[in-house]
Amino acid sequence: MPCNSSWRGSSQPVGRDGPREATAAAGRLDGERRAFASSAVPRLASGVTTNPPRVSASELLASLRWRYATKRFDPVKKIPDETWKALEEALILSPSSYGLQPWKFLVVRDLGVREKLQAHAWGQTQVTECSHFVVFAVRRDLGAEHVDHYLDRIVEVRKVSRETLTGFRKLLVTSLEQAAAKGRLNEWQTHQVYIALGQFMASAALLGVDTCPMEGLAPERFDEVLALAGTGYRTVVACAAGYRGADDKYSRYEKVRFAAKDVIVHV
Ligand SMILES: Cc1cc2nc3c(=O)[nH]c(=O)nc-3n(C[C@H](O)[C@H](O)[C@H](O)COP(=O)(O)O)c2cc1C
Repeated sequence: MPCNSSWRGSSQPVGRDGPREATAAAGRLDGERRAFASSAVPRLASGVTTNPPRVSASELLASLRWRYATKRFDPVKKIPDETWKALEEALILSPSSYGLQPWKFLVVRDLGVREKLQAHAWGQTQVTECSHFVVFAVRRDLGAEHVDHYLDRIVEVRKVSRETLTGFRKLLVTSLEQAAAKGRLNEWQTHQVYIALGQFMASAALLGVDTCPMEGLAPERFDEVLALAGTGYRTVVACAAGYRGADDKYSRYEKVRFAAKDVIVHV
């Protein structure tokens, strides 16, 4: 396919991850990188390098085709604790720009709270019928305080000294300040929250758990019900998780997706 630039944006997005050195500064040890690069990765005759798959391609695609935005959940079926723990871990493991993790995931089990939320979500039944209801909130006006919290965690996990992170801190704080000056800070961080949503849904599908992503809600009202005022966090989107009801006709609908030629561009 010819390289058609008309559909490309020309402006450089704010908040793209910085140079390679920045990642190194984040405490990723050179040795760790070398070990990864030289680990026992099988090489195919064609020269293509591959890692052993975690699930087969057909298992992955079967899960993704099985997933659909569930409208009616079986209110009796609950996600087992072990499965839910894995899904919470999938949320925690979500990638984010610079690794800043500008989010909170509010897992709402209380039915009374859910009923209040439902009233601000177009009355959608998923809110109360699902097993676990997750509200994805973004940290607004991200700044130096959050950066320091993140750097403290790098020090704790990677056992590096705080001094080695001085340059990385400057890079992060400057990036956030620049995004704020352009009025794009909160939008940038909100994008990260959607990555977590996608990872959550795909992970759930692999575990046989149904989900319904939900933007059909009033974020400000959700913030009120969840008492988010003063926390710095705001509702972005939600996701119901559980098991599809036998009566959900949407489970039988064909998936409507554009053909590969319309959306995949090989350059
Ligand atoms: C960010 C986002 C918000 C959505 N909000 C809602 C919602 O509020 N209620 C709903 O029933 N479906 C919602 N959907 C589901 C979409 O309508 C659905 O994913 C889309 O039609 C494709 O269908 P499929 O997910 O079943 O393949 C949302 C999907 C996304 C990704």
